[in-house]
Amino acid sequence: AKHLLGIEPLAPDEIRTILDLSEQYVDLNRGALKHSDVLSGLTQINMFFENSTRTQASFELAGKRLGADVMNMSMQASSIKKGETLIDTALTLNAMHPDLLVVRHPHSGAVDLLAQKVNCAVLNAGDGRHEHPTQALLDALTIRRAKGRLHRLNIAICGDIAHSRVARSNILLLGKLENRIRLIGPPTLMPAGIAEFGVEVYDDMKQGLQDVDVVMMLRLQRERMDGGFIPSEREYYHRFGLDAEKLAYAKEDAIVMHPGPMNRGVEIDGEIADDINRSVIQEQVEMGVAVRMAAMDLLARNLRAQKAEGVWA
Ligand code: CP
Repeated sequence: AKHLLGIEPLAPDEIRTILDLSEQYVDLNRGALKHSDVLSGLTQINMFFENSTRTQASFELAGKRLGADVMNMSMQASSIKKGETLIDTALTLNAMHPDLLVVRHPHSGAVDLLAQKVNCAVLNAGDGRHEHPTQALLDALTIRRAKGRLHRLNIAICGDIAHSRVARSNILLLGKLENRIRLIGPPTLMPAGIAEFGVEVYDDMKQGLQDVDVVMMLRLQRERMDGGFIPSEREYYHRFGLDAEKLAYAKEDAIVMHPGPMNRGVEIDGEIADDINRSVIQEQVEMGVAVRMAAMDLLARNLRAQKAEGVWA
């Protein structure tokens, strides 16, 4: 593919190819040198129009470990603040001949639009409530390593599904690989028409967590609630926060995941988040660097091949 804009267009074999290559980068990152030259001579620009810790840091590290020239645009200090549009900003940077653009934007669809205007590979680092493909890929790699497979698992995604691009990308990816997905959360935080995605919907944690292999918790995304229903934190934690009592309904070896940033005592009990026997939250962060290395490696191979043939539009 030319870009990585979402999970939706990816075939199961393409997902497996990215995950298999990511395994090699897990090994590289755990070694003494942590360096390869596969992106040597290429320029990577990271444009984050929304706050980020994990995604921004891991894309930067991934590019540097692969030998790219990496530039982080500080969007707060950019001419966006003077009224320049997203597209004009992208065209300006495009004129400097980048090879990889990594973009996070608060509006769904903004990254797809930008990809149509530039002649380099674009990676979606999260757009509105639409998609966060590298998050779903790193979650998939974490699950595959913990469970030894990535099919026929019972996976619960819990919390604010309606505002979550992480949930959407995970539902798409895990569904493509024939897993059984349960969504658990208040009806007010469930997107309309979600049952069409072939998922089961619950508003009770104890029922929904019964015998699941994976428990994926999500943050309440107040920044996307647009003045709509915002539950009280206390009530929300009581009903939907993951604590030991609720987790006891999952399988004994169920893993606990969270994409971060997490709010302890709101959607998850701090002790569970830190329990190294159940929580794989730190592994998710580790896998994030490897998955982003693999994604950029594969896009760069395609970019080089197409540019060599003169077919890149
Ligand atoms: N999971 C995730 O996207 O985290 P950041 O917002 O910190 O990048």
